Amino acid sequence: MASHQTLASRYDAALATLQGRGQNHVVRWWDELGVRDKEHLLGQIEAVPWDVLDRLIPTHVQSEPHGRIPTDLRPAPVFPSTPNGDQEKLYATASQRGRELIAAGKVAAFTVAGGQGTRLGFDGPKGALPVTPIGGQTLFELFADSIQAARRAFDCSIPWYVMTSQANHQATVRFFEEHDYFGLPEEDVALFEQGMLPALDFKGRLLLDRKDGLALAPDGHGGSLKALARSGALSDARQRGCSILSYFQVDNPLVKPFDPLFIGLHASTGSEMSTKVTRKADDLERVGNLCLADGRLTVIEYTEFPQHLAGQKNPDGRRTFDAGNIAIHLLDVSFVERLVAESLDLPFRRAEKVVPYIDESGRRVEPDKPNAVKLEKFVFDALPLAKNPLVLEVERAEEFSPIKNAAGVDSLETAQRAQIARACRWLESAGVAIPRKSDGTPDVTIEIAPSFALDAGEIQSKRDRLPLLRPGGSFYLQ
Ligand code: UTP
Repeated sequence: MASHQTLASRYDAALATLQGRGQNHVVRWWDELGVRDKEHLLGQIEAVPWDVLDRLIPTHVQSEPHGRIPTDLRPAPVFPSTPNGDQEKLYATASQRGRELIAAGKVAAFTVAGGQGTRLGFDGPKGALPVTPIGGQTLFELFADSIQAARRAFDCSIPWYVMTSQANHQATVRFFEEHDYFGLPEEDVALFEQGMLPALDFKGRLLLDRKDGLALAPDGHGGSLKALARSGALSDARQRGCSILSYFQVDNPLVKPFDPLFIGLHASTGSEMSTKVTRKADDLERVGNLCLADGRLTVIEYTEFPQHLAGQKNPDGRRTFDAGNIAIHLLDVSFVERLVAESLDLPFRRAEKVVPYIDESGRRVEPDKPNAVKLEKFVFDALPLAKNPLVLEVERAEEFSPIKNAAGVDSLETAQRAQIARACRWLESAGVAIPRKSDGTPDVTIEIAPSFALDAGEIQSKRDRLPLLRPGGSFYLQ
């Protein structure tokens, strides 16, 4: 009886909260629900940060936010992928410093894997998707193998932090357990959840995922900074003596989490947050543009980037704003600690997404185009808050081929092609002849496991173990 009274008073409080905001449709099926369902729904309503929604619904949901585009917009200073003559010494010293930092256990791997991967439509956490062209390794397995290979190469321990969300946490933990943490010491792998926020329709009404549950969505990869602190991962990194988090997204099988040059440049320039970019594929490519905005390093999304600047060319014909964000960053542990301690919140952004929901009649609706707004923080919004942020250009074909869609651009197919093409380039650099079709594409399927080589340099040092490639053959180097 007592618990029913508590439930009743909690319901009254929730109803008052909802009614004041025109959200009482959320309890439309209250009378049909059992006690546990009621508790579940109340728990969710009570956990909603209403102050945040009150502020953001008018500006970010019912209308599109109009961020002020800075008037003083300049291209970001970028360290080139190949050093200019006078940078050669700097790059060599930085690479050496990077190797020393990795070997000293200063670098931790940090994967953000809390997204819902709706565009891919894979049934399970995206990291559980088999992606390698021959071995069929999953993304998580591939990253774990890179970590394992780096541990061996540098004779050090490397913790791996993996951010999940309520949407996939249990399934991700199960996947790691079933695969025995992919051979990594369990105590060196930490999975933790990010925050969730309600998804809203374009009028600003909360969507229901079922009669007793709100449609919730993870609060963006920018939510990772607070989640790192809240989960204890940040203090764990600090305790282990790690000073740098190597941040990467779960969807990029080409990522090189332990890049000595990147790490060494980051450390030797006193950067608190660094980022890799690639040259843009075209003026309007759908990537964020790295710029100096009013003097601060900032990513301006392609949707907000002034068209006339996107097309601007230098006298040498190169695009003036040519640095595209590929979501590979280094974050100092002390930087994240400072942001959290100083409550330096990243801004929320509006993301239009497909969110299944139940309508007024209780029928489940699976929309085929974006029907809702998710409020998300983006990790690159921490760049303007960082001291001495650094940008390093890399070759896209070497480091970036994300799996976003079920087919077409940025899909499993393009990522597998990119893995094979990279493997061919690495082998070619070691003098191996690559059979090619008349259109120049490789006439072989090759997979190079991280345990065999993490980069072209390692392939070159294993010349005596490289195969002769027959046209049409499959070669798995592991
Ligand atoms: P995306 O922007 O591609 O979003 O995330 P998504 O949710 O994975 O996919 P869609 O848009 O629903 O198809 C880029 C990276 O950021 C992570 C994702 O897991 C992916 O590694 N991410 C995204 C989070 O960790 N949390 C989030 O809230 C959003």
